[in-house]
Amino acid sequence: MNYKRLVSVILASIFVLNAASCSLRRPTESTAAPEIPSNTIEAPTLPSESTVETTVPTATPEPTPGVKPTYIGLSAEEIVELMTLEEKASQMVQGTNYNLSRDEMSANCYGSVLSYDGNWPSIEYSRWHNIISNYQIAALSSDTGIPFIYGNDCLHGLNMVIGNTIFPHNINLGAANDVELMREMGVITGSNMLYTGMLWNFAPCVAAAQDPRWGRTYESYSSDNSIIEPLALAFTEGLMDQGIIPCPKHFFGDGYVVFGTGEGDNLIDRGDASMTQDQIDECLALYQSLIDLGVQSIMISHSSLDGTKMHEYEFYINYLKTEMGFEGVVLSDWDSIHNCSGETLKDNVIHCVNCGIDMFMEETTYEEVRDYIIEGVNEGLISEERINDAVTRILKMKMAAGLFEDPYQESRTPAYDFNSDHEHEVARTLATESMVPLKLNSDVTLTEGMRVFVTGPASDDTGVLCGGWTYVWQGGSDADLGMRWCAEGPSILRALQTAADEIGFEIVTDESEIDTCDVVILVVGEMPYAEWLGDSEDISITGALALEGNLEAIELAANSGLPTTTLIVAGRNVIISDYIDSWDNVIMCYLPGSEGGNAVADILTGNATFSGHLAMPYYSSVDQIGTGRYWLGIGYSAADEA
Ligand code: BGC
Repeated sequence: MNYKRLVSVILASIFVLNAASCSLRRPTESTAAPEIPSNTIEAPTLPSESTVETTVPTATPEPTPGVKPTYIGLSAEEIVELMTLEEKASQMVQGTNYNLSRDEMSANCYGSVLSYDGNWPSIEYSRWHNIISNYQIAALSSDTGIPFIYGNDCLHGLNMVIGNTIFPHNINLGAANDVELMREMGVITGSNMLYTGMLWNFAPCVAAAQDPRWGRTYESYSSDNSIIEPLALAFTEGLMDQGIIPCPKHFFGDGYVVFGTGEGDNLIDRGDASMTQDQIDECLALYQSLIDLGVQSIMISHSSLDGTKMHEYEFYINYLKTEMGFEGVVLSDWDSIHNCSGETLKDNVIHCVNCGIDMFMEETTYEEVRDYIIEGVNEGLISEERINDAVTRILKMKMAAGLFEDPYQESRTPAYDFNSDHEHEVARTLATESMVPLKLNSDVTLTEGMRVFVTGPASDDTGVLCGGWTYVWQGGSDADLGMRWCAEGPSILRALQTAADEIGFEIVTDESEIDTCDVVILVVGEMPYAEWLGDSEDISITGALALEGNLEAIELAANSGLPTTTLIVAGRNVIISDYIDSWDNVIMCYLPGSEGGNAVADILTGNATFSGHLAMPYYSSVDQIGTGRYWLGIGYSAADEA
């Protein structure tokens, strides 16, 4: 079983076990103000014998090994000329951190390693730094002596690390549409990455989700490429400012996959796209702008276009490298070549190298893939020229990342302290700007003297605010974990409690007191998910991926007869037609991240005004999807109607 699929099964079982244990089910209700961690974390320790983890390598050479001296001053092309076929093939693979050992790195000098850390809680940045430095020691003590590069998905801030802000997801950032702050978010993300030693970010995701039933809808800024482009460029620029190598993904058309064509049992994810020439041109133009900005890697999409998997769509990969002038690395997505048209993995490796893939992201089979590349060349099925081209691109990317001059990144100076106040402020502003009012029949402001009834399963859950790709691939909820998923910001309830203490209104959560209240704040949402596990036919707010308890909370609010403001915490425009009539106000919060609670409090206390607008159409039923009809269109905000 694919590791990601296996992890999802394990996580699901853990959540079921936790759910069965009542005492762990929910964090105790506390009205204490949230503790925002102060910026007390020290600067990263640079690798030296004393900081290197004791397990590996036991015989650390002293001083730490550097790039092989014969390469110094040479161009990528000249270095490639000095390399054996075996060495070059090793550069063309990227294995996962939990499979690829440092011993394997010293034996083979693989090109790259990527994260998957399924552990909660995640580890501190300094531990990542040591892990990555140890890989570098291993790579540089190999016969090849070429620095490796570490990759990770830092989509909404640094991921798989504890102690830093979780930014809103792309769907929020599209609604906020603040180009200047997007750049700043890129700088902050890049700055935090430098503390870990991860220099390659598999972001931005520039998918233009057309169907909200897709589980990756929230990874899209918008369904409109003209909204996506400036945001993606600004974020990318910010990352590059810190010397990070961005990796726009997924080339291309992943957002245009047709419902029902998903790979295997998936409804949509990794399925077959159907695009008009105009849509193709728009997507290519977006990638062209990123190439013109100087990106040095692009990830290929798991999806196909008109039946041809993008990983073997030679025409478009070639087009990217010739017509579009892309000189960087074409990276395959996670094990994606296994699903191409060849009968064996070897066939697929040979075919995909020939189609233009330069590096292969492989969970467990990185060594086999390397061997098949070697066999392919020895059997005359791949030209050495193609291999040289791939490795030259890889080395150029590593040079651009500064790894030949400074493989342990000792001279890096992150723009900000780790987890700075500034980082929290930027995330809070972006989250606030991303709230989109869908209906405003009354003033949502909570004022002194009010009794405010707060209910709904998303009201006191930090994990739900952050969504998937938060610490672990699928993310997780406080309710299932039995404690706070994310300690970097308050839940909505906690943030409102803090505001209530300051302003002088009262928060009530005891159902028996609902009749004594003036208003209801109803907070409903979706459970966290990622990739195909978020595909769903039924995207109603009480549907398949709805939080347990949404319906009960909706009924409680409706039966109270009180004015109700509904907040929706979800990764897509969920269907709310059956319930909206009983709500006075509706605010779409999407997945606002660790500052989401504070952002909601800012809006509901009048600290901030609404500035978010829909960046994807809002459908009143799934039947409207793909028909050109919708309930609310792109650009809508009920605040503009008032
Ligand atoms: C996803 C990519 C991601 C990669 C590494 C894949 O399954 O499609 O977006 O970058 O995993 O985590």
